[in-house]
Amino acid sequence: MIMARNLHKSFSKLKVLSGVSLEVKESEVAVLVGPSGSGKSTFLRCLNGLEAVDSGEIIIDGIRLDHDRKNIARIRSETGMVFQNYNLFPHLNVLQNLILAQKVVRGRSEIEAREIGLGYLEKVGLSEKANSLPAEISGGQAQRVAIARALCMMPKIMLFDEPTSALDPVMTAEVLMVIRRLAEEGMTMIAISHEINFARDVASHISFMFDGKIIETSPPLAFLNSPKNEIVRKFLGNISS
Ligand SMILES: Nc1ncnc2c1ncn2[C@@H]1O[C@H](COP(=O)(O)OP(=O)(O)O)[C@@H](O)[C@H]1O
Ligand SMILES: [Mg+2]
Repeated sequence: MIMARNLHKSFSKLKVLSGVSLEVKESEVAVLVGPSGSGKSTFLRCLNGLEAVDSGEIIIDGIRLDHDRKNIARIRSETGMVFQNYNLFPHLNVLQNLILAQKVVRGRSEIEAREIGLGYLEKVGLSEKANSLPAEISGGQAQRVAIARALCMMPKIMLFDEPTSALDPVMTAEVLMVIRRLAEEGMTMIAISHEINFARDVASHISFMFDGKIIETSPPLAFLNSPKNEIVRKFLGNISS
């Protein structure tokens, strides 16, 4: 479903991706970990065309991400992305936040968009917040709204960039529960997350990014219990202690 091969990317003189390759099959969950600044977010942004790579190959669901605008648009419309900061429109209530992109991007009618939005709000357990403004709900609830908003577009792939790193433990658990359920339903996903229990339970494989390269990819238990790479071992020691 996702194939990235030998991606290179620089921001002027700063080399951020130095030959990143990753494959995610349909219904797999890839978890990506690694130190801050190692290129994780840039990699995710390249996958849905928010950043252009300098070289390398990206194929999403059989569509090659190249300079063809049509392909970029198709890949974007199949890919939902959720960031650390949920980016809800502050002046729109929760349901209006879910409706807007559906009308603009999918061309759905107000009535249809509303029905779909209410369905996904229920799925993330927030039906009763439909009329609340973003400022009136918690960070964890806002993140679940952001996930519902992405799901309204009915993507084939979900990309999560540290979706819980701004949240307290209770809110983190609520958000991870929603992502776990998506995994159980067979959504293909890449999640950048340092929540180790989550990674152990849902990951098909965990990859470690360091200095613009993926230096290890292993099944979760092997990755967490007996990482091959010394850098990975040290990193895991630091986040679990
Ligand atoms: N748009 C940009 N312009 C210039 N430098 C950037 C940009 N985005 C990211 N970087 C730099 O690229 C490096 C990798 O960043 P990032 O992909 O955000 O890493 P991570 O998500 O692993 O913390 C960092 O040094 C960051 O400052
Ligand atoms: Mg990042």
